[in-house]
Amino acid sequence: MENATEAYCEAFSTPEDPVLRAIYRDTQLHQPFPRMISGHLQGMLLQMISRMLRPERVLELGCFTAYSAICLAIGLKEGGLLDTVEVNAELEDVIRANIRVAGMEDRILLHTGDARELIRQGRLQGPYDLVFIDGDKEQYPEYYTLVFDLVRTGGYILADNVLWGGKVLEEVKTSDKETGGIHLFNTMVRQDARVVQLLLPVRDGLMIIRKLDQPTLKG
Ligand SMILES: C[S@@+](CC[C@H](N)C(=O)[O-])C[C@H]1O[C@@H](n2cnc3c(N)ncnc32)[C@H](O)[C@@H]1O
Repeated sequence: MENATEAYCEAFSTPEDPVLRAIYRDTQLHQPFPRMISGHLQGMLLQMISRMLRPERVLELGCFTAYSAICLAIGLKEGGLLDTVEVNAELEDVIRANIRVAGMEDRILLHTGDARELIRQGRLQGPYDLVFIDGDKEQYPEYYTLVFDLVRTGGYILADNVLWGGKVLEEVKTSDKETGGIHLFNTMVRQDARVVQLLLPVRDGLMIIRKLDQPTLKG
């Protein structure tokens, strides 16, 4: 989205919650690669989706500073739980502090480690109503394969950055593993008769995937 359009969208959306705003600012000031954070508009979208679905169980792959985890946890059903996974152990203190400030300690459970390993070891058990994929871009195809059986029938998978700055529109170089991973993920989803999906051109591209009860014909 162009900057002017994005500014207009922000101006006419409900302002960012002060706690989320503080987390965003702190992330910009103190983290390397702060652009990885979801931010206001996408955070509001995640909150809206979660509030609409009222999930009982959510799984997030790629916590970073817990901005998106907090947004998704806002819509949890009473007594619901969000499992979030972060491979970078150096982020643990920041994540725990942000969860505490947001008052979400009873709703968000942090798992430190490689999400792929934790799933393979059976340490993240489904069924989940909603999974948010936002880890390493090269690993997206693997995440999709691994989480699929953890999502309940009729449940949803969201995947961030599926446009990857527009790089997926160009011919993918074999050396560019991240664009290759995203493009392969998008292709896998398109070819998967077990789901219906919508690729939204929001921010860096957000894919919304619904796991079907019955396989359906798709082009
Ligand atoms: C784009 S950031 C997540 C942003 C966050 N979800 C948000 O919207 O604010 C990606 C994060 O995934 C983490 N990550 C990368 N590979 C991972 C893996 N295999 N398992 C768990 N976390 C991973 C990175 O360390 C990084 O913090």
